[in-house]
Formats: sequence, structure tokens, C-alpha cells
Amino acid sequence: MSNYHIKHLEEYFQVYRKSVRNPESYWEEIAEEHFLWHKRWDEVLSYDFEKPEFKWFKGAKLNITENCIDRHLRTRGDKTAILFEPNDTTEKAQHISYNELHERVCKMANVLKDKGVEKGDRVCIYLPMIPELAVSVLACARIGAIHSVVFAGFSSKALATRINDSSCKMLITSDGSFRGNKKIDLKGIVDAALENCESIENVLVVKRIETNISMQNGRDIWLQPLLDNASSSCEPEIMDAEDPLFILYTSGSTGTPKGMVHTTAGYMVYAAFTFKNVFQYREDDVYWCTADIGWITGHSYIVYGPLANGATTVMFEGVPSYPDYGRFWEIVEKHKVTQFYTAPTAIRALAKEKTEYVEKYDLSSLKILGTVGEPINEEAWHWYDENVGKKKCPIVDTWWQTETGGIMISPIPYSTPAIPTFATLPLPGIQPALMDEEGKEIKGNQVDGRLCIKFPWPSMARTIWNNHQRYKETYFSAYKGMYFTGDGALRDSVGYYRITGRVDDVVIVSGHNLGTAPIEDAINEHPAVAESAIVGYPHEIKGSALYGYVILKETGETRNQDNLRKEINQLISDRIGPIAKLDKIQFTSGLPKTRSGKIMRRILRKIASNDTSNIGDTSTLLNPEIVEELMENVISS
Ligand code: WTA
Repeated sequence: MSNYHIKHLEEYFQVYRKSVRNPESYWEEIAEEHFLWHKRWDEVLSYDFEKPEFKWFKGAKLNITENCIDRHLRTRGDKTAILFEPNDTTEKAQHISYNELHERVCKMANVLKDKGVEKGDRVCIYLPMIPELAVSVLACARIGAIHSVVFAGFSSKALATRINDSSCKMLITSDGSFRGNKKIDLKGIVDAALENCESIENVLVVKRIETNISMQNGRDIWLQPLLDNASSSCEPEIMDAEDPLFILYTSGSTGTPKGMVHTTAGYMVYAAFTFKNVFQYREDDVYWCTADIGWITGHSYIVYGPLANGATTVMFEGVPSYPDYGRFWEIVEKHKVTQFYTAPTAIRALAKEKTEYVEKYDLSSLKILGTVGEPINEEAWHWYDENVGKKKCPIVDTWWQTETGGIMISPIPYSTPAIPTFATLPLPGIQPALMDEEGKEIKGNQVDGRLCIKFPWPSMARTIWNNHQRYKETYFSAYKGMYFTGDGALRDSVGYYRITGRVDDVVIVSGHNLGTAPIEDAINEHPAVAESAIVGYPHEIKGSALYGYVILKETGETRNQDNLRKEINQLISDRIGPIAKLDKIQFTSGLPKTRSGKIMRRILRKIASNDTSNIGDTSTLLNPEIVEELMENVISS
């Protein structure tokens, strides 16, 4: 029996039981056998749900890039580590070997050091999906700087908020980016953001699209000449197990984005372990995750998890629809991809197109398919199974979160029989619990409740940057002695989990978490708007889309409504990013409120979803008559 690599169901159950009975010795064995340490830990785990505080492999010393790069050089130096597929089909793919990756990361690390970045400093990375993004991430880890990657689709305001929250010293960006047939002026967005960021000392700029951009003297520096002059050897900084590795922002239901802090050793062990098992990675496989490194999926399953296993990981710069809807499948054929990991929203979008786009390509290299980010509907699951997997590839529906660092509930291919829409069973070491609203655990099967995790796991986020109190309140206050996920789930008769969706005010649009409160704040800045409320409603492709109810000030009521809608969406785009734009905006004279003034979002959700047969009791409302008005004017198409 191997703790690290599970190959069949009986083995899973044995390993799982062991991981729960004795978590410390379970993780200790894995850590010992599969990673490189400079010093062993003094204690595998210490924790306190009250504080809350979690420490894994306390006292151990390591550098994650030695585990992801250096230790492979002897046996896999010429193997492709990163396979870069550019946006444009006419540009050649790049096969970056482990040797080359080592050289590039060392050079980049030396550039950072030379520009004054030290251990513990925060470096913001705002780059498209080009090799420099992965290299920058690893270069930070090499010298012990904390990376904070901001998805390059976020607006200048959103970027500035994130830079300021963790007072980043350095920003790495590019002149622009390619996205399908568009060119995006990233540097322009950066310049606007930096008007309000005092902590940034230097901006390193990658040349990608070769346009004219303005470079601010003394602040902005082209990266390539610096790399050309940098030494290709850089000793790794020896880090403590619990030193922060990165910050990654995720939306909360209220307030500013939360800078989730992940630390070094536990994150590494868990990302590597889950990658190996969930994707059953074998030496000659070519693994492709279509996510962006700007999200946790890219951190754990494009960069750290695959590289820690010496894998070949594909990085794709483009979009699934360019030059046409066959692009994903063209890439699978071209690089003989063996594992393919994507989001349900992408599957739904592709399933809407002609099946010729899939049939045209030879997908016989594929062995395992995965999904992540939101619940997958049955129709999309079957389309994926039949058209992409040709009914011979196990599908792993992986449930996890930015906060969990790695996959938590997922089938293990060839072991766990899959059922569409079920994430199935917890991975070893993960102890889920379903809770009722009174705070009691719901035992037994065929039940549903709020999903919690009742024992620490190595890759859990340790805090929210600069706001430990918020960390405590958000995740550890609802249920004593447990981590609360914010998701609802059901457990079926055999113990399989199915995630039913968020139970808070976070809406998942095309796989992106969006808190409704920050969007409302953006709308309310519009001079004609008095008040607003945002809810999610089911959407064929996006999974959920955003519906806005907006009350106008008297002065705004005479304005052209279509223009107002455009202005409101522009405001959201500026404040947060285009992904947060509303699909539907209904102007209304009021919102349903309780006597204490709280907006009854349940009613708004039902109206937006055209599900008004069972609107529930409205008698406790302060203004029950508004429900009628809202239903009459609902935007249904
Ligand atoms: C949702 C992405 C159903 C869930 C890795 C969670 C899912 C949120 C699944 C985290 C899944 C993720 N089935 N829902 N397989 N995977 N979710 O932080 O609501 O971007 O809380 O992490 O996505 O999103 P995040």
C-alpha cells in the first residue's frame, strides 16, 4: 500500500481510514518520502481552532523551488517542464525544459534581488498567461518573496486595491496581452492603478505585444535586458515551513477582497499529493489545466502541484474560441495531452457549438478529464464524457476553494466510480461534516447541510493578510471547532458529496467568485442611483449570471434607461473588471425589506430566476406591495 499514490478503491478506503485515525503519521510519511528538506520538522501538526492557528511541519526548513525544479535536474533535466502554447496558432509552441526553467527562474530571482526585493517582501504579478508568469512566481519563491498574482482581467482599481492591501514593493507586468483577436493594453491599466499605489518602487515590464507604451523614468524597467545580464545561478533562500509563500485575493460576500495567505511546506505537500492522485500522473504524461495562474487552480495545478511531481504542464495563453471553437481540441491533438482539466462554464460554451469542432481532432491521447470551479450540470457532464472522453476517460469533478489550497473532494480515477454532478468522496486527510443552521452536525446519509471541514489539512490558508480577525469571523465562527466553507452540500446514500452551491452572498459567474456587496458599492457610486441589490440567477453558459435591482434617485428617473444600464456596467467594469458586469438590470421603486431594514434577497433571487410560484411568506415585509411590482417588471429574456 502506498500512502502517496492510490491506485484502487480498496486502497483508497484503507488509506483514508489511516489518514483520519492518525493524520500526523500519515502526512509525516508522505512528507518524508517525497520531498526535499533542509531540516526536518519538530512537530507534524499543532492547531487551535479558537485562535485560529494551524501549523504543519513546524520547524522544518525547505525551499519549494528546489522541490519543483532542482531535484528533477539530474533525472529529468531535458524533460519539458512547461509547454507554452501561444494565443496565435502561427506562433510556435515553446518547450521549456527543467534545465531551462531552472536557468530562467534563477535569472529572474537575481533580477528581483538586484532591484532590492528581499525575503518577506510582497511582489505583485499582473501578467497574461505567458511563461514569464510562471517564472516570476517561482522566482519569488526562490528568494522567499511573497507573490501576489492578480488576474490580468481585473481593472486598474481592483489591481490598486490588491497592491495596497499587501503593500507590494514591486510589480511585474507586460506591455500588453493577446486574447483571441484582441490586444489588451495592460500597461495602461497598470499606469492608472499606480497613480494610487505608493508602495511600488519598480515595475518590471515584459515585452509581449510590442506596442508603444509609456515608461515612467526611474520606476519602469524593461525586463529582458536585466535578464540578459543576470547570473543563471541563484542559491535558494531556505524557508521555514510556515513562512508565507503567497497571497491570493478572493472575493468575500462583503467588503474588500480577502488576501488569503498560504504558507510553504503544507501547501507544497498537499498540492503535490493531490495532483498525483486526482490526475494519476505518470512520467510521460502531458497534463493541461486551462485555468489562469491568476486563480488558485493555476497556482496549485499549473505551477506547484505538477512541477513538484516533475510533470509536463501546459500553459495556454489564448481563449477556447480563437481562431475557432476547436482550439482546445487542436491543442490536445498537437501536444498529445493526457489529462485535461477545465471549468464547467467552458464545457457548456463549447457544447453549444457544432460537434464537428471536437470530432475534427484526434483526442485518443486523453486519459483523464477534470472539472473545477462550480457545480457541473448533468448535460454538460455527459457532453464532456461522450464527445471529449469518448466514454473511456474517468471524469474528476473536483471541489475545493482558494482557501483550501488544494482539491478536497474528488473521485480518484480508476478507483472511485463517478456519478455526474457528484464530487464524490473526500481525499485522504479531509474530514467533511454537514451542519444544520443551529450548529449541530447532521450525521448519516441522504442528508444535506452546510459543508464544513472538521480537522486541519496541510494546505489550508493560515490567515487573511493583515486581518486575522476577519479570517476568524469568516471561516471559524459559524461552527465551533470547524472550518466553514460557505457552500451547501448533500451526502447521498453511499456517502458521496454533491456540492449544491454557495449559501452566502457570493455568486459564481463563469467559475469566478463574485461578492455581491462590492458590486453594489460600485453601482451606488453612480450619481443617479439611490440603492441597489444584486443576486445571481441560473444561466445556460455561465452557470450563474448577475441580476441587478436598482432604485434611482428622483433626479435620475428621467434619464434614458438603456444609457443608464451602460453607465452602470461601465462603472462596474472600472471598479472591479468586466467579469462582474450585470446581465440584467431592472429599475424599481423599492426593494423588499424586513422590518429591520434588511433586504430579503431570497425573494429577489426567486424573481430573477423566474421562479415565482413559491415566493414564500411576504407578510413580514415592511413593503409587501413591492413584490408585485418587481414581478411585473422582471426582465426575463
Ligand atoms: C465552487 C476554485 C461545485 C464552490 C478552486 C467553492 C465548486 C468555490 C466546485 C471556490 C465543484 C469549486 N463543484 N462547486 N467541483 N469547485 N466550486 O475560490 O462554491 O475560485 O466554494 O476556488 O467554487 O472558488 P475558488
